[in-house]
Amino acid sequence: MYDAAYAVKKEWVGNVDYYRGLLEFSNRCIKNCRYCGIRRGNKQVERFDTPREDILAMARWCYEQKYGSVTLQSGERQDAAFIDYVEGLLRDVKAIGNGALGITLCVGEQTKETYQRWYNAGAHRYLLRIESSNPKLYATLHPQDGNHKWKVRKACLDTLAEIGYQVGTGVMIGLPGQTLDDLAEDVLFYKKQNIAMIGMGPYVVHHNTPLGKKVREAGVDTPAARAERLRLSINMVAVTRLFLKDVNIAATTAMQTLHPLGREMALKAGANILMPLVTLPQFRSQYQLYDNKPCLEEGQEQCRDCLSSRVASVGDTVGWGQWGDSPHFFNNLK
Ligand code: 5AD
Ligand code: SF4
Repeated sequence: MYDAAYAVKKEWVGNVDYYRGLLEFSNRCIKNCRYCGIRRGNKQVERFDTPREDILAMARWCYEQKYGSVTLQSGERQDAAFIDYVEGLLRDVKAIGNGALGITLCVGEQTKETYQRWYNAGAHRYLLRIESSNPKLYATLHPQDGNHKWKVRKACLDTLAEIGYQVGTGVMIGLPGQTLDDLAEDVLFYKKQNIAMIGMGPYVVHHNTPLGKKVREAGVDTPAARAERLRLSINMVAVTRLFLKDVNIAATTAMQTLHPLGREMALKAGANILMPLVTLPQFRSQYQLYDNKPCLEEGQEQCRDCLSSRVASVGDTVGWGQWGDSPHFFNNLK
C-alpha cells in the first residue's frame, strides 16, 4: 500500500517535498481541549509571547533559507488586540521579499470578519483540524461548556473555503474510543469538504491533561499501543494519498515523536510537506502539546539540515524557494 501511495504522490504532486517554517509564536489559549498540553487549564505551563521583531527575524531567516512558506501558529485567542496584532504581523511577513513567502495561518476558530481581514492581510492558507469527523467522539475530547462545538469547527472550515483560503484540516489518530470506521469517515470528510491540505498524526499523551491521565491510568499507553497509533497514522497518510491524489499531506512532528523515522515513513507513504521548527529555542519547551516532542534542543539550522537529509534519504528533493501550494486547490478551480 505504501509503494502504491508513493507512486500516486510521484504522479500527482511529484517526489518533491515542500517546507513550511513553523513559527509557534504564542502558547496562550482560551480553549481547554482535553488532550492538549497548552490548554487553558494547565497551570504548569509558563505562557509566552514571542516578541514581534523576533517573529519577523525568523520569517526573514526562512526567506533567506529559501523555505518558500511559513506557518504562523499559536493557541487560540479571539480578543480584538490579538486580531489586530495578527493582522499587522501578516502584513509585515508579507512584505518580506515583496510577498515572496507563502503564509499558512493556524490560530483556531474565528469569525468570518476576522478570517477575511487576515486573508486580506496576506494569509492564503489556513489550517484548522477537525480533530475527528465524528461529532460524538469530538465531544469526548472537549469540555462541554458551549465553547468547544464540533458544529462551530465545521462551520469555520466552510467559511474559510468561502473566503478563498486553501483550507487544511486533519484528525488525531489512535484516540480512545476511535474506530476504524471513524478513520474511514475522516478521509471521506476530507473529500466532502474539498480539503486541499491535510495535517494529521497520532494522538500522543500529555501527562498533565485530563485525557492523558485517563489513558495512562487505564494502562493503554504501552509501547505496543504507541506503535499501533503510529502504524494507523502512516496508513491514514497512504489511504488519503491513494484516495485524494492531488492534495498536500504533511509528515507531522507527532509521527516522529512515536518513532525516530516516523516522518520518513510518512514521506514514503505519500506525504509531501514538512514543517521544520523555527520557533525560538527558548520557547520550544513551552509549546508542548504532547510529551516527548522532538527537536526541543535543536536550533533552526539543525532542523533545516536534519529534515533535508531525511528528504534525501527517501529519494525525494526539496522544493526550495517555492510555495508548493496544493495542486488540488487549483485543479478544483479549473
Ligand atoms: N497529541 C497529538 N496531537 C495533538 N494536538 C494537540 N494535542 C495533541 C496531542 N496530545 C494537535 C491537535 C491540534 C493541533 C494544533 O495539535 O490536532 O489541532
Ligand atoms: Fe488550544 Fe489548540 Fe491546544 Fe485546543 S489544541 S487547547 S485550541 S492550542
